[in-house]
Amino acid sequence: MTKITFILAESALETIPKEITSDRIVQSFCNKRGKSSKNVLLDQSYHHKAILKLEEHQKRGRPDIVHLCLLEATSIPLYFEKKLDVYIHTINDKIINVGSNVRLPRVYERFVGLIENLYQKRTVKAEDKLLLKLQDGNLDNLINRIRPSVTIGLSRVGKTSTYEDVAKIGLKFEKPVFIVGGFAKGTFSEKSKRSMNYLLSVSQYPLDAHVVTARILYEIEKQLKNNYNKQNKR
Ligand SMILES: C[S@@+](CC[C@H](N)C(=O)[O-])C[C@H]1O[C@@H](n2cnc3c(N)ncnc32)[C@H](O)[C@@H]1O
Repeated sequence: MTKITFILAESALETIPKEITSDRIVQSFCNKRGKSSKNVLLDQSYHHKAILKLEEHQKRGRPDIVHLCLLEATSIPLYFEKKLDVYIHTINDKIINVGSNVRLPRVYERFVGLIENLYQKRTVKAEDKLLLKLQDGNLDNLINRIRPSVTIGLSRVGKTSTYEDVAKIGLKFEKPVFIVGGFAKGTFSEKSKRSMNYLLSVSQYPLDAHVVTARILYEIEKQLKNNYNKQNKR
């Protein structure tokens, strides 16, 4: 059976990094929430000025991107039918494994609470079922662990293609991995690109990660269904 893996890579998700814990705005934000900065998610909406002091600031502090992409990936038949594994790789090399049958909070503030809890405890369970697991590791470590038959990265600066062809290329293999960037601006690092067999573009426009996520997963779902129907007609 074909097993699809979706990775949201270099995602702008992290707790407040040490470099900006003494920032006045960051401190007042954490005090108001009554939490230590190491248990608070970095968020452009509240920590914009402090984020500008960080390296690669265009890839930091956007948990909302991860929220939207995860909702897209975990609210579809492909995922319900356990044909899709979902992982988040973050900009500071953490890996979040999303369990099967996970229903994530629809409300952003609740999602933030869930992820802050995950960063504290490293696992989130419900009725003994693993919902989320946080580990250290870079994209290469994650790919080595999955052992895919092909790795396809999506990027505006990739080779011109279409959603249909990206899915078709992946589905020639038993265990394809599809990678979308979980950040707002910029492109994949050279290191991440080296982990990809293909780097493909689906539009001349720089699209939001959640749009690319939803469309590519829908195309995969459609083609898998068509392939299954064709095989059963024979
Ligand atoms: C908001 S975009 C990053 C924007 C960046 N300016 C770019 O050109 O890719 C986040 C992710 O969406 C995907 N993406 C955005 N536009 C794309 C396109 N035209 N073709 C393929 N993937 C795209 C990529 O995976 C990208 O890392």
